[in-house]
Amino acid sequence: MASWVQTLLFMSILFPALVECKIRHYHFAVVLKNATKLCATKAIVTVNGKFPGPTLYAREGDNVLVRVTNHVQYNVTIHWHGVRQLRTGWSDGPAYITQCPIQPGQSFVYNFTLTGQRGTLLWHAHISWLRTTMHGAIVNLPKKGVPYPFPKPDKEKVIVLGEFRNFRHLEACFCLHRMWS
Ligand SMILES: *[C@@H]1O[C@H](CO)[C@@H](O)[C@H](O)[C@H]1NC(C)=O
Ligand SMILES: *[C@@H]1O[C@H](CO)[C@@H](O)[C@H](O)[C@H]1NC(C)=O
Ligand SMILES: *[C@@H]1O[C@H](CO)[C@@H](O)[C@H](O)[C@H]1NC(C)=O
Repeated sequence: MASWVQTLLFMSILFPALVECKIRHYHFAVVLKNATKLCATKAIVTVNGKFPGPTLYAREGDNVLVRVTNHVQYNVTIHWHGVRQLRTGWSDGPAYITQCPIQPGQSFVYNFTLTGQRGTLLWHAHISWLRTTMHGAIVNLPKKGVPYPFPKPDKEKVIVLGEFRNFRHLEACFCLHRMWS
């Protein structure tokens, strides 16, 4: 056996975290939440009652399982914007394109693996106007023990920029930045 193979085997016994890919479980409950914005209070559709929604953390190579349960009266789907769906097209999320919407009272498990990707991406609802209030960040870190492809930042902060208007049916335009300070 080549000595580097032995070393690798030995390392993987000693430090399984170095080579192991994890399964990341998330539960997204789609619920209404009263929010006061622009001097008006109204019920908005959120994930887990959060606006912006929860940040999903994973490492490159991890399998991500997100169970989405729909507790609102609208059909929903979630799209993992920028995630390369390799042989997991059914988890991509565009309603009526890769899946039927998750109907009120129903659940769906999105199951994909983050392969060959690092960086911060965005998830958002992919049906009608729901993306306006249903969106959040996906932080995809390098594998354990693998450095960033740039000097290690002192601090990391996720910043989600959104646009909120009082027009209910407006398709919002939003973008996402991650700041390294
Ligand atoms: C929002 O507020 C209204 C009026 O106070 C209330 O009837 C409703 O139950 C609230 N909805 C939620 C989701 O908290
Ligand atoms: C919700 O989705 C189902 C299919 O999954 C579809 O039959 C139904 O018409 C949709 N409802 C609305 C209000 O779009
Ligand atoms: C996720 O998908 C993989 C392969 O595509 C499969 O082996 C695994 O059982 C799936 N997990 C769940 C919870 O459906």
